Amino acid sequence: MDQLLPAEILEAGQAFPRALAACGDLDSLLRLKGIYVGREASHAARLMELLKVAPKEQKRDLGAAINALKQQWEEGLKHRQAELETAKKSLNALASSWDPALPPPTPAQGALNPLNRLMDRLVEVFRPLGFHVEEGPEVETEAHNFDGLNIPEDHPAKASSDTFYLAVHPELLLRTHTSPVQVRTLLRVAPDLAARGGVRFLAPGRVYRKDEIDPTHSPMFHQVEGMLVGHGIGMQHLKGTLEYALRALFGPHTEIRLRPSYFPFVEPGCEVDVSCPLCGAKGCRVCKGSGWVEILGAGLIHPNVLRYAGIDPDEWSGWAFGMGVERMAMMLSQTPDLRLFFENDQRFLQAMGGLD
Ligand code: DAH
Repeated sequence: MDQLLPAEILEAGQAFPRALAACGDLDSLLRLKGIYVGREASHAARLMELLKVAPKEQKRDLGAAINALKQQWEEGLKHRQAELETAKKSLNALASSWDPALPPPTPAQGALNPLNRLMDRLVEVFRPLGFHVEEGPEVETEAHNFDGLNIPEDHPAKASSDTFYLAVHPELLLRTHTSPVQVRTLLRVAPDLAARGGVRFLAPGRVYRKDEIDPTHSPMFHQVEGMLVGHGIGMQHLKGTLEYALRALFGPHTEIRLRPSYFPFVEPGCEVDVSCPLCGAKGCRVCKGSGWVEILGAGLIHPNVLRYAGIDPDEWSGWAFGMGVERMAMMLSQTPDLRLFFENDQRFLQAMGGLD
């Protein structure tokens, strides 16, 4: 029957569904209605004129084709009208329920970075033992970062390939560890160390090394340093304190083990492992099946470190430790890529809300 209809009407018929969908409000729908089924000069009116002048034997078929088309247009228009009216009503309802006197909706809140939370927690664990927080600058001198820590002139950490030196001065650098806070604090408290009865502190903060960024390395990361100086301090005190702290952190059944290691600023030095908190030391991906995870470096303060600060190593002794925060946070949260901790993606930070 379509062959009875002129081409432009067929085209208009084909364009109808799209034109209908494009009507975003009742006014444009009314205009479309006029074009298709209006009384005058519409497609439907044209069709009626065609019908009038059609040869008699075509009238029946043509009439049926025209009716079908008109009906299709009218139904489409009615349906779209109902849709637009509903949308308008709900928009009106929304507008009338909006109370300008109400406070604005609270913006989405971020969460404290999990690395800061972990450092805060370490501070809280040590606070009852009398440890306070010491801070040092991120731009350090060679003297504090290396010399005061008994790090020899030829140590690889001093090389410009490992450390960010500052162009403004050859002896300034971005600290490579939190250990220079040991030197600064000892230098400051040395004159009245006896009156104080020693010193004990934690030093959390950022450190920098020339590492390429990958899932487990970053040129900027965090450490927490711990130090205690007193009379007659030995390995037993270090071990007892770490056992207390690491159990507070990882759970009461945590075991620790000390393995001999070398750091220039301690003697003896050790690396400390905890029984894997994730699998209960049974062996898993995180502990690589061994049941142990390395958590920090520690040892008894080297006499040269005390001497540098003007403290007599025959009278005073102590211990120190340094731990990597990202490493611990990655393990606790089973985050495989440390870059996530720095990217400020609120979804990650919110999900990490449960790091406790
Ligand atoms: N400063 C060392 C590092 O960055 C970590 C460390 C090891 C700190 C042993 C200490 C310590 O205080 O006793 O690798």
